[in-house]
Amino acid sequence: MTAIQLDGLAAAKDQTAKTRVAIAGATGYSGAELVRLLSRHAHAEIVGAYSSESFSIDALVETKPDVAFLATPNEVSADVAPQLLDLGVKVIDLSGAFRLGEPSHYPSWYGFEHPRPQLLAEAVYGLTELCNGELSKARLVANPGCYPTSVLLALRPLTYHIDRTQPVIIDAKSGVSGAGKKADVAYSFTELFGNFKAYGIGKHKHEPEIRQGLHLGERTALVFVPHLLPTDRGIYSTMHVAFMQPVSNEDLAEIYADAYGNAPLVRVLPAGQMPELKSVVNTPFAEIGFQVLQGGKRAVIVSVIDNLLKGAASQAIQNFNRMCGYPETEGLA
Ligand SMILES: NC(=O)c1ccc[n+]([C@@H]2O[C@H](COP(=O)([O-])OP(=O)(O)OC[C@H]3O[C@@H](n4cnc5c(N)ncnc54)[C@H](OP(=O)(O)O)[C@@H]3O)[C@@H](O)[C@H]2O)c1
Repeated sequence: MTAIQLDGLAAAKDQTAKTRVAIAGATGYSGAELVRLLSRHAHAEIVGAYSSESFSIDALVETKPDVAFLATPNEVSADVAPQLLDLGVKVIDLSGAFRLGEPSHYPSWYGFEHPRPQLLAEAVYGLTELCNGELSKARLVANPGCYPTSVLLALRPLTYHIDRTQPVIIDAKSGVSGAGKKADVAYSFTELFGNFKAYGIGKHKHEPEIRQGLHLGERTALVFVPHLLPTDRGIYSTMHVAFMQPVSNEDLAEIYADAYGNAPLVRVLPAGQMPELKSVVNTPFAEIGFQVLQGGKRAVIVSVIDNLLKGAASQAIQNFNRMCGYPETEGLA
């Protein structure tokens, strides 16, 4: 066989080579979605998948993964991710452990001192549509939270139009799987069925993430009111914003078209048409609707996603695809 033929074989092998992936937290709600999606991904090979009982750093590293997905509690990810990075494994973390840039927010919002605060500056915040090349070089991706994904997709394109002297009001609802699979009387069928309530006002871990993502600083009032919907999955965020200069529905349509014209997984509806949960549940899509009010001084914007998909697992795979140079929707569409 000639050298040229050998080169050809090597190239053919490279084209079929898969990226080796391991999943910690594979028995959780988000982790199970990762397993389901990655098992049909053309360029990924699952080499390890772990529950809390089967997991150890040694067991995971032994499978020689290129990329580890962590669908584990915040403190577990904060402890495990740095060790994997030190061992040369790239990490896509679905928890909040690397989402906040300010280390002092971890004790106050998450209840623990961050074990490796230096990594907060390195972590790429993986709101995929708003990333611009940084994912391809990332070692550590902080996958956004579910509420922040719905809010930031809707409001980030409006950042330079929002009047920061007025409060940004976010009235958001989540299906029960947003809390993970923990057993708690508050999440039992009898408590939830036929019921609807707000929770965690002023205390929710996603509040500083939203403030950070909207570059609101500390002066702009942010009113974030999460609610528990008596349904299994889906996030419905209704946002109220004021503008520095009046805008028309046409202006907003143009701003969103600029932001998402080339985004395969974000759908922006015509002005006045509001999205519904059922359009996105069990899909990797986000859907956004808007309506200006009071001569364009204000608008109501609605954004919906599936919390376990665009709010967790499918966005993590969008980030994986961008990281590895695969088509963004591989394994998703
Ligand atoms: N649920 C959502 O909508 C959502 C959305 C975005 C981000 N997230 C974040 O994603 C992460 C996973 O959330 P989830 O809702 O999927 O959680 P979950 O359903 O409660 O599952 C947690 C997973 O982590 C494993 N685990 C727990 N403690 C561990 C430990 N000490 N070592 C190794 N593995 C451990 C569990 O294993 P066992 O099965 O053995 O208990 C399980 O597989 C969390 O950080 C969460 O904040 C969740």
